[in-house]
Amino acid sequence: MKVGDYTDAKGSAQANAPLGDLYGLGAGRYTRRMNTLLDLLTRRQSTPSKLLSEPGPDPAQLDALLRMAMRVPDHGNMTPFRILGIRGDHRLRLSARLAEVSAARGDDPAKVEKDRNRFNHAPLILAVIAHVTPGHKVPEQEQLLSAGLVAYNLLLGAESLGFGAQWLTGWSAYDRGIAEWLRLAAHERVVAWVHIGTRSGSAPDRPRPEPSSKYSEWQST
Ligand SMILES: Cc1cc2nc3c(=O)[nH]c(=O)nc-3n(C[C@H](O)[C@H](O)[C@H](O)COP(=O)(O)O)c2cc1C
Repeated sequence: MKVGDYTDAKGSAQANAPLGDLYGLGAGRYTRRMNTLLDLLTRRQSTPSKLLSEPGPDPAQLDALLRMAMRVPDHGNMTPFRILGIRGDHRLRLSARLAEVSAARGDDPAKVEKDRNRFNHAPLILAVIAHVTPGHKVPEQEQLLSAGLVAYNLLLGAESLGFGAQWLTGWSAYDRGIAEWLRLAAHERVVAWVHIGTRSGSAPDRPRPEPSSKYSEWQST
């Protein structure tokens, strides 16, 4: 699939349609570059991590992704985030660690097996780490949101480079033992495992809310 292509509700690949028509904006009003961005935002959809395979981003593409991630809004320039890249055998070791932890706590064997493969599909996992400063004049919510936006920019960036991506968390993102095993500091937490790779298939899109059900005009009384 190319950038801008998408899958319809039945999972069939659809070619990129001109966005000017979609919005009735008149194609001439937007440059091709703008249309690409609008297409991306209008049709963004995750690719399940199981459908992500080699090749992953090359060093130049990874650099581009990281630059995009640094463009997030950030109240007070606190940069309350960092990114850990996890690749190759290190992904497999992380999966194995998850399986060890879930087996040790007596999880269902099927769940342990799922954990054993959790990071084995996408060639690149970008762990977005937030470090929120409590009591700062910038509210904690805003710091955490900036870190979340890093994950979202990575999703958009990956798609813009032609890759598929999925933002996952699961129990491992909230587990202090896993955080320590990753050598995170006490005030750091994982807000996203962003799985990135080449799409080996596509999942059907999920139903999206009708915008009008989520929008209303406020008027003073
Ligand atoms: C903070 C956050 C955590 C998520 N964690 C998971 C997860 O652990 N497992 C999962 O299946 N989806 C998770 N998702 C949802 C997927 O990222 C994705 O949105 C979902 O597969 C639907 O696809 P879409 O992005 O095309 O709507 C999470 C999303 C967010 C924003």
